[in-house]
Amino acid sequence: MANIILLGPPGAGKGTQAKRLVEERGMVQLSTGDMLREAKTSGTEMGRRVAEVMDRGDLVTDEIVIGLIEEKITGNAGGGFIFDGFPRTLPQADALGALLARTGQTLDAVIEMQVDDAALVARITGRFTCGQCGEVYHDSTRPTKVPGTCDVCGSTNLKRRADDTEEALKQRLMEYYKKTSPLIGYYYAKGGLSAVDGLAEMDDVGAAIAKVLDRRK
Ligand code: AP5
Repeated sequence: MANIILLGPPGAGKGTQAKRLVEERGMVQLSTGDMLREAKTSGTEMGRRVAEVMDRGDLVTDEIVIGLIEEKITGNAGGGFIFDGFPRTLPQADALGALLARTGQTLDAVIEMQVDDAALVARITGRFTCGQCGEVYHDSTRPTKVPGTCDVCGSTNLKRRADDTEEALKQRLMEYYKKTSPLIGYYYAKGGLSAVDGLAEMDDVGAAIAKVLDRRK
């Protein structure tokens, strides 16, 4: 069992690789982005405020996301937790360390997915997901086998995210460089940071992540 963080800018492939690890290793994906998108549709005042922030490409407050993770981290971790999109700030990283320590768990690897910013626009603007099962696709690099139908669950409810525009992506990248990229140095100093080439083919990225996880056994 291993608890890991997938760290990288928007479109680096965190969600894609997290889903593979869930299938291949029985790990549990904790995506704060998915949790917040669920909150957006809750019809509550908090959901409305979260939607405004996310659609602009800004970060939601530390307090909200730490609360979301705190609720999940005590549950069954199966093959380990994959923190996808969390932590994103230094206070969130400190909070995760404290939460893991309090629940008697460890952080076993932090995997930085390195990508070239220029590739991200094409990745983000071509992305669509299944509204039913959450499978992630791309217009050119990973289209569905039957147009308009999810390969995994057969749903025709395929959606694009409100923040997957070039304008919102610029803001998301700005937030990443200002607030999230310092975590690379933070985890390097703590130990346990590994980097993989996020621009490689999806299977090769998966193999590189598997190598990092198997090295620790
Ligand atoms: P979140 O949902 O976490 O989005 P993100 O970090 O911007 O990351 P993405 O989901 O856009 O990209 P990804 O790396 O998962 O890439 P994917 O695998 O889909 O956060 C959204 C918002 O929520 C934030 O902006 C913020 O407002 C809020 N939020 C979330 N967490 C927060 C936190 N902790 N604190 C504060 N606010 C928070 O891949 C992208 C595309 O590329 C896909 O189409 C895929 O098919 C394709 N692709 C993937 N890998 C490859 C490959 N190797 N080759 C070719 N194509 C590929």
